[in-house]
Amino acid sequence: MKYDLPPGAPRKNLVLVGFMGCGKSCIGRRLAEKLNYPLQDTDDIIEDQQQRKISDIFAADGEPVFRDMETAVLRDLIAAKTHKNVISTGGGIVTTPGNIDLLKQLGYVIWLDARVETVLERTSRNTNRPLLQTDDPEQTIRTLSDQRRPLYTAASHLRIETDGLDFDEIVTGILETARYYFGNQR
Ligand code: S3P
Repeated sequence: MKYDLPPGAPRKNLVLVGFMGCGKSCIGRRLAEKLNYPLQDTDDIIEDQQQRKISDIFAADGEPVFRDMETAVLRDLIAAKTHKNVISTGGGIVTTPGNIDLLKQLGYVIWLDARVETVLERTSRNTNRPLLQTDDPEQTIRTLSDQRRPLYTAASHLRIETDGLDFDEIVTGILETARYYFGNQR
């Protein structure tokens, strides 16, 4: 794989965005291990802070409250001058106005893109995603994905099509970029 690194991307962290089920958490974990960087997962941070599952936060407080929590996590990471971390984010983080700018301040943003069929297959086995607990999850994925694609495009410096690739192949590709990216860093 060959990558063009955008000159404007800050050399701070590797930030993963993308739809539910695109592999952000799993790929984030492996990247963090290989680079020996701490992993920050915005969903995990919120669950730790709240001592509740995300599905409980949605059920008790509603989505807008969860979205505010996501923004607060991004602001905290920036305020803490987080550096050389892998940051994995919830799939809807790009939907809050202002978050795209915060994501880009945090570093090099990689969009793990996946087709609706792939997302459906990867998400169908568990029930921990409140937004997909609908009568027709495939249609829900399609609708949300259509709404969000322009936002992922705006948020990311690099898009990787993950369909048909296994996680190791994706991680290897990102590492190639990351080594180059952070290798030139002072
Ligand atoms: C959401 C994605 C979830 C989680 C929450 C909302 C979304 O994270 O933040 O359920 O709006 O797409 P994952 O993308 O890690 O599943």
